[in-house]
Amino acid sequence: MSAVKVLFVCLGNICRSPTAHAVFQQLVSAGGLDDQIAVDSAGTGDWHVGLPPDRRASASAALRGYDLSGLRARQVGPADFVEYDYILAMDEQNLRNLRQLAPKDFRGELQLFLHYAGDRQQREVPDPYYGGQDGFDQVLDLVEEASRGLLQALVQRHGLQARPR
Ligand code: 4NP
Repeated sequence: MSAVKVLFVCLGNICRSPTAHAVFQQLVSAGGLDDQIAVDSAGTGDWHVGLPPDRRASASAALRGYDLSGLRARQVGPADFVEYDYILAMDEQNLRNLRQLAPKDFRGELQLFLHYAGDRQQREVPDPYYGGQDGFDQVLDLVEEASRGLLQALVQRHGLQARPR
């Protein structure tokens, strides 16, 4: 069985989507699902391509045991719509931009990430870039909740075999 492929997308790929990438990857690994779920992240913009995540995002994540240091920003491109089964946007603007880029024959799911965060009113992971450190902690709260929901949905939908470590 080929892996289910998940791409997290925000604007810069230095704050929200790398956080989602690391948090969800850690859940996948903890469930022994590395060979069944592949994870990546990208930005709709190109300003930060090649750069590591924002220091504030890395610091907040490290306090909760997530390591963002190996990640580098890249921009979403046409090949991503061939490669990925789930392309999950952090906010409505990211989703609109992705819909404009998506080829008509894209068969995957293009969706807001917080769709998987249970029964909440909030639809977007707010952009923390121009705010304080607390915004990055809020990003982590939202991302951790949505990651749990996403993993549960993928396991059910695709009949994945979790082997918790
Ligand atoms: P991200 O945050 O989309 O969560 O990575 C941002 C990063 C950079 C900028 C905006 C948002 N920027 O304007 O450079």
